[in-house]
Amino acid sequence: MLKDFFLNAIPIMGAVVSLFDGNTGRTDDPDSTTGLTSRDKFLVTSSWAEVRKEPTENGVKLLMMLFEKNPKYLQLFPFKDIPLKDLPENKRFQAHCNKVIHGFNAIIDSLDNTELLVTTLLKVGETHKPRGVTEEAFLDLKDVIIELFSTFMNKDQIEAWKKTLEVAFATIIKGLTQ
Ligand code: HEM
Repeated sequence: MLKDFFLNAIPIMGAVVSLFDGNTGRTDDPDSTTGLTSRDKFLVTSSWAEVRKEPTENGVKLLMMLFEKNPKYLQLFPFKDIPLKDLPENKRFQAHCNKVIHGFNAIIDSLDNTELLVTTLLKVGETHKPRGVTEEAFLDLKDVIIELFSTFMNKDQIEAWKKTLEVAFATIIKGLTQ
């Protein structure tokens, strides 16, 4: 009788435990390739959920910050002749910003599938190589992302983003330089 109770309870407990782990994030299960734990992935994915709701607005904020700090990168884009101050209203620029956020969606959505994640990141590097995008540009974008996110994310979320972007951008740069 007691044995039956435990046998029935075990699968339920397993489900409860795995649901718990997935939602709160374990800190003791780093992925062997990325080093990211469930907690890191949870913090990144849940905070990104807010950003992706407004892809154009947030993409514009991110790229404007990148161009304001590094105007030279604007030269790589087809909208390079538009004055910086007019860019946020420019539809071509907005469309690009939207695409960048969708590019990040693909990265964040594959955090739990390491093989897909690595392939996606290498491809970002590979596709940007013929466009003259440098390693330095990716590193500057990484810094800008952290600066922008620090204006509305908490300390734990920022730490998880730093860790995630470190490994993600190293892989992008591998795709760019190999
Ligand atoms: C993780 C970071 C980045 C992501 C996810 C990303 C994503 C994208 C996407 C989705 C596109 C359009 C689709 C395509 O043609 O591949 C694109 C195009 C482009 N990206 Fe990025 N990008 C990133 C970083 C950068 C950086 C750092 C620069 C340079 C400062 C850059 C410059 C460009 C340029 C010049 C184009 C072509 C624009 C055009 O001709 O319309 N990207 N990027």
